[in-house]
Amino acid sequence: MNPNPPSLYERLGGEDMIASLIPAFYVRVLADPELGPFFKDTSIEKLHAMQREFFVMATGGPIQYSGRPLAHAHHGRGITKHHYALFTGHLVETLLDMGVTQEETDEVIDRINTSINEITGVSY
Ligand code: HEM
Repeated sequence: MNPNPPSLYERLGGEDMIASLIPAFYVRVLADPELGPFFKDTSIEKLHAMQREFFVMATGGPIQYSGRPLAHAHHGRGITKHHYALFTGHLVETLLDMGVTQEETDEVIDRINTSINEITGVSY
C-alpha cells in the first residue's frame, strides 16, 4: 500500500486547478440573485485571493491561509443555512463542470462543510 496517498489537493490538479476554480465559482455566486447582494461592498480581487488560499489549505495543499478567521469575516451578515446551501450548490456545479468526479466533489464539500457554523453564525 502506498504510505503517502496523494492529497485531495493533488488529485484535483493543485494550484492551477484551484486558480481557475475560484473565478468560475464566483461568477455563479455573484450572478445568483440571493447571493450577489452579500458581495456588493466586497473587493472581489481580495476575496479571490483569500478563497484561493483557503481552498488550497482546506484540500490539503501547501499554503497557509492568511485571511481573517471565517467567523469574523461572516458574522453579522445574515447568512443563513439556505444561503450556505445555495453557495455550496454552485461549488458542486462548478466542480462537476470542470470535470471533477462526483466522489472528489463530495470530498471537497465534506471539507468545506466543517466550516458551516462559522459561516452561518450558529456557534455564536
Ligand atoms: C463554507 C463556505 C464558505 C467559505 C469557505 C468562505 C470563505 C471565505 C473567505 C476565505 C473569505 C475571505 C475572508 C477575508 O477577507 O479575510 C470570505 C469572505 C466573504 N464571504 Fe465567505 N465563505 C463561505 C460561505 C459564504 C456564504 C454562504 C456567503 C454569503 C451568502 C459568504 C459571504 C462572504 C462575504 C460577503 C465575504 C467578504 C467579506 C468582506 O467584504 O470583508 N461566504 N469567505
